[in-house]
Amino acid sequence: MRPVDDDKMMAFVGKVINDWGAAAATPLVAIGDQLGLYRAMTDGEPVTAAELAARTNTAPRYIAEWLAGQAAGGYLSYDGEGKYHLEPEQAVALTDENSPLCVLGGFEAFNAAIKVAPRVADAFRSGEGVAWGEHDPALFRGTARFFRPGYQANLVDNWLPALDGMVDRLRAGAKVADVGCGFGHSTTLMADAFPKSEFIGFDAHDKSIEAAEKLAAESGRGHHVDFQVATATDFGGQDYDLITYFDCLHDMGDPVGALSHAREALRPDGALMIVEPMAGNDVADNLNPLGRLFYSVSTLVCTPASLSEEVGAALGAQAGPARMEQVARHAGFSNFRKATETPFNLVYEVRR
Ligand SMILES: C[S@@+](CC[C@H](N)C(=O)[O-])C[C@H]1O[C@@H](n2cnc3c(N)ncnc32)[C@H](O)[C@@H]1O
Repeated sequence: MRPVDDDKMMAFVGKVINDWGAAAATPLVAIGDQLGLYRAMTDGEPVTAAELAARTNTAPRYIAEWLAGQAAGGYLSYDGEGKYHLEPEQAVALTDENSPLCVLGGFEAFNAAIKVAPRVADAFRSGEGVAWGEHDPALFRGTARFFRPGYQANLVDNWLPALDGMVDRLRAGAKVADVGCGFGHSTTLMADAFPKSEFIGFDAHDKSIEAAEKLAAESGRGHHVDFQVATATDFGGQDYDLITYFDCLHDMGDPVGALSHAREALRPDGALMIVEPMAGNDVADNLNPLGRLFYSVSTLVCTPASLSEEVGAALGAQAGPARMEQVARHAGFSNFRKATETPFNLVYEVRR
């Protein structure tokens, strides 16, 4: 064994204990969400385990253990004498689905994603992929829930205006394809904002398209939106003004083929908008908490998904701008630029 520095050793073990706590608490946050435990505390009034159990029709002994663990992790606050409350900031993140800072979808998605770990361990040896559609259905719901708050906060107000002249075209009436649309939140947000335009959401995963249709119908807003099962390399239609990819291009097996197909379907003066997770070009740029999150999800979900499809380019969720530009150029596009960014996303505009 090589010599060990005692301080560094204890610091590393301390970090691991923090990570263990976070990992062990993940299913319990999801349980809190699923059973409405946080929602029952949004008023901020201190509650005992017995009171919260009565509010949520749950067993007090479980609730007492859950409350203490949540307080230890800083997900709610302890007032002493067996009482706990949710701070306003905790309430926003843990109950408000319309806030861009809502974190609930992430917990639902991570809990679902870890179920595939044994298969991914086998795939490390075989090199084979695991298709998106093979995951626990909670991954599809959780992913849609995870991304929606960010789209709601940014898509119409910041991302589309960052594309040259696009908002005017959408206001006047444009034709838009949203490729890899999943549950279609991005599609319906755009459709709501631009009623004169026509939107079609495409996804290879039939269950996601079913969910998108159902959500759009239930909203009762009569969107100008259609959803179809189709891959990024075979979706139909011509003369699109805009083709969008929200957090999905790196999941695809053939991103160059996808953008080549889009190039054929796009009007000569049309644009692609590609939204990808925030990333730098080099691994060293991404060695931070967000990079850890994205590389981990990418190893469990995005990379296996891409490897399960034809070509299997496996860009990974941290591909970075230089790699994305290369993909766009290989697909025949000459103009590629970063239109805007948020702390979590890069938004690219691509044109002929
Ligand atoms: C991470 S999810 C993102 C879904 C959605 N855009 C969102 O932001 O919630 C990736 C999506 O890409 C879809 N996908 C993967 N490969 C595809 C392909 N070749 N063609 C069309 N969709 C594909 C998956 O079915 C999945 O719905």
